[in-house]
Amino acid sequence: NYKKGLKDYYKNYFPIGVAVNMAALKGADSALIVHEFNSVTPENDMKMGPIHPKENEYNWKNADAIVDFAVKHHIKIRGHNLLWHNQAPGWMFKNADGSEVSKEVLLKRLKDHITTVVNHYKGKIYAWDVVNEAIDDDSTKFMRNSMWYKICGDDFIPKAFEYAHAADPKAALYYNDYNSEHPAKREHIYKLLKSLVDAKVPITGVGMQGHWKLNDPTPELLRKALDEYSSLGLKIQITELDITIRMPRSRPANLNTQANAANANLLPVPDAGFTPELEQKQAAQYKMVFDIFRQYKNVITGVTFWNLSDKYSWLDSRGGGLAGGAAAGQTSSRTVRKAYPLLFD
Ligand code: XIL
Repeated sequence: NYKKGLKDYYKNYFPIGVAVNMAALKGADSALIVHEFNSVTPENDMKMGPIHPKENEYNWKNADAIVDFAVKHHIKIRGHNLLWHNQAPGWMFKNADGSEVSKEVLLKRLKDHITTVVNHYKGKIYAWDVVNEAIDDDSTKFMRNSMWYKICGDDFIPKAFEYAHAADPKAALYYNDYNSEHPAKREHIYKLLKSLVDAKVPITGVGMQGHWKLNDPTPELLRKALDEYSSLGLKIQITELDITIRMPRSRPANLNTQANAANANLLPVPDAGFTPELEQKQAAQYKMVFDIFRQYKNVITGVTFWNLSDKYSWLDSRGGGLAGGAAAGQTSSRTVRKAYPLLFD
């Protein structure tokens, strides 16, 4: 019954996006996408493993279907992603005899992959997440010790941006990561971004994923991150916004293992459903972050929700979205703690 969608209310600010999978491209879900959103991100179908399962085989089917849907409905498209430690195909890092590839071979394969994929969607994808989650969560470390890093050192990051830029000079190129507003990780991401900017690597901006909680981030931390990243002259997109209702609570004194220590204050509350109290807290957190996004409209160039509605959220299979699964207090792998993280149910 609503005449206007989110995208219309936000037309003087930035595109409002949504992560989509194939299931959402039909029926009521597709109508909801078209009504509310003017940007889409394929949730999985452009990742390296799904789209490039074998060295000489690309699987364009799902990604093409999402792109065709978006083009037909005049919806912008963010590509996600060109390089990640997860959902990367095993063959990428191995020679025919099973041994590990050299740096030269891996960079050649990366170049082939990025050139082929970016070129396939040239002119249709306005922004790419080029490198995803390369910074370590451990604040005593810097780069994540992924296969990319193990084999290439940190060279793979500037190279990935250069390959993408060469394939489509008009596409905006982003570095994308989570917990990017938490001080220790923020400083590391800032340091990486600054080195790229200083080296004149073709990077447009930073994607702050935005997998958030009812009390996290605070407005101060969110503003600080937006200020720091934009001080580098970079644009910012919120790329994967969801706010779980699994409110962190204090760790009971008897839980004192190392795994739990890492997740102090991150124990999930029991699933009592989506109560009015939780709904109100979630609305307040959504309001807070969007109030800030609007104040930063000169640097924020897009806000994307990580999926269309609660039924599709990736968080439900992860204890409602708290890092660490079992370590975060999930008692059994069969425990489902629903996250109710999105605007639509
Ligand atoms: C998630 C998808 O939502 C899941 O369906 C998939 O099983 C795993 O990946 N950071 C990212 C996204 O950059 O690609 C992830 O998406 C969520 C975390």
